Amino acid sequence: MLSKKLNVDLAEVSKPDAAAWSAVATQEVSLIGVPLGMQPSVYISTGLANRKIGAVSKVSAKCVHNETELAIRLEWEDPNYNIEQKDNTEFPDGAAVLFPIGDDAPLMTMGSETQPVNAWHWRADRPASGRSNFAAGLGTTEVTDDKQIKTESNYANKRWSIVLRRALQVPGQEGKVRQFNLGDTVKMAFAVWEGSNGERGGLKAFSPQWYEIVLEK
Ligand code: HEM
Repeated sequence: MLSKKLNVDLAEVSKPDAAAWSAVATQEVSLIGVPLGMQPSVYISTGLANRKIGAVSKVSAKCVHNETELAIRLEWEDPNYNIEQKDNTEFPDGAAVLFPIGDDAPLMTMGSETQPVNAWHWRADRPASGRSNFAAGLGTTEVTDDKQIKTESNYANKRWSIVLRRALQVPGQEGKVRQFNLGDTVKMAFAVWEGSNGERGGLKAFSPQWYEIVLEK
């Protein structure tokens, strides 16, 4: 998958319906539900045994960057619009991308102690401020920042489309986030949470393989 280099201010593509996105190639990504046996909490792994986790089975991804920023657009079908938590059954819809902080990391466990990962996380109940997560294995996810990733979202015709945008380099966050350079080949994975299906945290649909993104020089 190529991230196209644009010579414009990426604020121009911050909206998911910005015209410039229509010229960018789409990567179709298949998603599967997380295996319940891999949930750290016994309550979750046994309490949800009869429910099919991973309601969203595909997401379309696009990527562009300029000299200083990277923007990722995700779009998926979702007949149920969830923007808040209600009781313990409905949660806000969400989506995230995952990067190894170094060259590689185990995807199935959200990284490991020696190969941690960085997620950019959008959630429908806080539509404008993405969260940056650091993880070094299951059960270790921590939010390291909620300002560096700008997000915008749009819900229309039973589809979500969102854009996540961040500076290529975040000074002072070495080791906590993925830093990007022009010309890099970067692994990226995807996750979508369907709020009406009780999905949150570790309960979600994800891409079981890394996709390689080349940041055009
Ligand atoms: C491949 C793409 C993936 C992405 C983008 C991703 C992203 C995230 C994010 C952003 C969170 C924090 C959620 C929140 O604060 O609401 C999280 C939590 C979690 N994820 Fe993932 N994840 C992925 C794959 C997986 C896989 C394959 C598993 C395997 C079971 C998993 C298990 C968990 C668990 C258990 C949590 C709960 C927090 C914790 O205990 O660390 N994730 N994930």
